[in-house]
Amino acid sequence: MSKLQKQVQELYLRNRRIKDGFQFTLPAPSTYPYQWFWDSCFHAIVLSHLNVEDAKKELRSVVAKQFENGMIPHMIYWEKSDLINIDWGREGTSSLIQPPMLAHAVWTVFEKSEDKNFLEEMYAPLYHFYNYLLTERDPRGNHLAGIIHPDESGEDNSPRFDGALDLPPRHEPSLNTQKRMELVRQNASCNFDAPFCMKNFFWVKDVPFNSIFAENLRVLAKIAAKLDHKDDALKFNEQYLLVVKAMRERMVEDGLFWSTYGVDYKKIKVLTWAIFAPLFAKILSHEEAQTLVDNHLLNPKEFWTKYPVPTVAKTDPSFDPKGFWRGPTWIATNWFIYHGLMNYGMTDAAQEIKNSSLRLLQKSGFREQFDPETGEGLGAYDFTWGGLVLDMK
Ligand code: GLC
Repeated sequence: MSKLQKQVQELYLRNRRIKDGFQFTLPAPSTYPYQWFWDSCFHAIVLSHLNVEDAKKELRSVVAKQFENGMIPHMIYWEKSDLINIDWGREGTSSLIQPPMLAHAVWTVFEKSEDKNFLEEMYAPLYHFYNYLLTERDPRGNHLAGIIHPDESGEDNSPRFDGALDLPPRHEPSLNTQKRMELVRQNASCNFDAPFCMKNFFWVKDVPFNSIFAENLRVLAKIAAKLDHKDDALKFNEQYLLVVKAMRERMVEDGLFWSTYGVDYKKIKVLTWAIFAPLFAKILSHEEAQTLVDNHLLNPKEFWTKYPVPTVAKTDPSFDPKGFWRGPTWIATNWFIYHGLMNYGMTDAAQEIKNSSLRLLQKSGFREQFDPETGEGLGAYDFTWGGLVLDMK
């Protein structure tokens, strides 16, 4: 076991909790005291490199609180903490979702373990979760999944949501929090019933969310095929293609994918790492991918900082190298970009992303985010996402 693997293992053991027979990992005990959905998907991917049985346990706990309609909440309050106290209108979990990484995580664990029983065990929760997204999050059948709150993107304060929240590109973080909490209350007033909440309050089709959705539908089709559910395999593969087609039709302008807002798909022209997310779902042609990488990723004026990849381009008016999701480099977004580049055989650029991530961990440890120019660690300590470097080969 390498030194890095050992460090990650120690961190994950420190952050591990067991409650009601379920095992899970806290993203950062002193800042994030609960279980989070996409964090746990990342944890399972990381744990698959350390101890695959622990990876399975992590995913079993993620699906333990699935709602009757298939939704899986983005936070599970296994034990109440005073650190974060939000009224979600229900006991024990939140009422929002996060980017649907579950199928990918399950498949990664299956590939490591070759445990078909585990795949079988996870199939019903997966099936119902993705069906929920295909129906409740796409009430008009346009093949794009909508989010009803910025936090559902996993990038709570991203400037992509400023316009929808009626905020300028520069504002105090406390104002952002206030707006997002107000939106939680509004969504509570329609019981977090997505089709209604979307119409009334906040309705974004986000590029990373839909790229992750598409890729996971493709993986879910693979899982269904492996389990001989032939009709499901066809269905989920068809849905993958439909999401890709809809993204191309509704999100592209000037060769870039933009998140959209509202009933008429108004493009949100804020330059963030989201433009690279479609690489993860192989949505671009090789030529398009190369142009995107040359013009934007490797462009020192935009994303090629000393410690890439900043979550927001330096040229965007909202860019703040220390602002939460408004500039700093995060290891998970690097992980998505790394795998996106690998999809296109761009191994040199991918390797640079891996090296940048490693340099950040060496310089500043397992912090939540990093200043993309100085490498300074920001936000939570003992944060688990750094472990994703183990999944960059
Ligand atoms: C923050 C991040 C979110 C993450 C959570 C726990 O809210 O924005 O993506 O899931 O922390 O780490």
